[in-house]
Amino acid sequence: MQDLVIRRPDDWHLHLRDGDMLKGVIADTSRHFARAIIMPNLVPPVVTAADAAAYRDRIVAAIPAGDRFEPLMTLYLTEGTDPDDVESGHKSGLVKAVKLYPAGATTNSNSGVRDIDKAMPVLERMAKIGLPLCVHGEVTTSDVDIFDREAAFIATVLDPLRKRLPELKVTMEHVTTKDGVDYIKASKANLAGSITTHHLIINRNAILVGGIKPHYYCLPVAKRENHRLALRAAAISGDARFFLGTDSAPHVDPLKECACGCAGIYTSINTMSCLAHVFEEEGALDKLEAFASLNGPAWYGLPVNEETITLRKQQEAVRYPAKIDTGAGLVTVFDPMFPLRWAVV
Ligand code: DOR
Ligand code: ZN
Repeated sequence: MQDLVIRRPDDWHLHLRDGDMLKGVIADTSRHFARAIIMPNLVPPVVTAADAAAYRDRIVAAIPAGDRFEPLMTLYLTEGTDPDDVESGHKSGLVKAVKLYPAGATTNSNSGVRDIDKAMPVLERMAKIGLPLCVHGEVTTSDVDIFDREAAFIATVLDPLRKRLPELKVTMEHVTTKDGVDYIKASKANLAGSITTHHLIINRNAILVGGIKPHYYCLPVAKRENHRLALRAAAISGDARFFLGTDSAPHVDPLKECACGCAGIYTSINTMSCLAHVFEEEGALDKLEAFASLNGPAWYGLPVNEETITLRKQQEAVRYPAKIDTGAGLVTVFDPMFPLRWAVV
């Protein structure tokens, strides 16, 4: 047996959904994580500070008794977002970031941004008040191959935006490419990136070899092996610009296992076991705390958690359910395709 004690982690990118799904998944996060940045891509999206306050209340009402968990709320950027509303939401302490979904990039992104110029007044205000922009970094133009969409976004949208507004703090969420890692590492200031659990474990073969595996499909889609290795190197480096954002994104099985399946992988329940495995494999268990518990709060200007969790390596594999029953329906749990021996005790 081997124990690893780290500060309680946070999840800097999480989909909790709403209603029965919210009630069915929240315990898998609040069990291990102290806080999470909550994605606003509900239907309809969380656009205004009032929407975010109401959503926060629904989340707080769903937290299991005895768990201490703080949802960190985000607003969904639209071309009509009101800068004054964003500023007052931020000043009240409610709004921790604004999320940019290029329209059409992913699940419920249709109300997102088509023309970034139309969002400039909000982005300028955010730069002024120090409110971070979280970006889903993929272009959506049909002529760009899906495996190239992150690199194209950096070159054609993100880099020009950052040159125009160098004061804007940008989180490149769920980085999936070496291009993304290199771009973040080359930046001097105001840029950081979150990395998911699953992108440290799978490459695109997991989705496509031996038949189509919808439960490994997410967006941005997993890339080639050299990209996965670059993500691993970034995650274990201790570099403060990289931190955990699981992008755990539950969809009920019928919406994944069909002719046009939804993007999203559900990892909340086994993320810490998976990460301990990955960091041990890399000989970097001593860097897990930086990635999961220290770098994120530093970037978002929040205190680190005082509590700790203990990860224990056991002889026996830790058993996680293959599916969880959420009340909205069954959700398949991410299968890392290797036995997990680390458990949170
Ligand atoms: O795989 C994904 N699922 N990527 C996203 O960007 C959205 C998310 C979802 O909401 O299901
Ligand atoms: Zn997401």
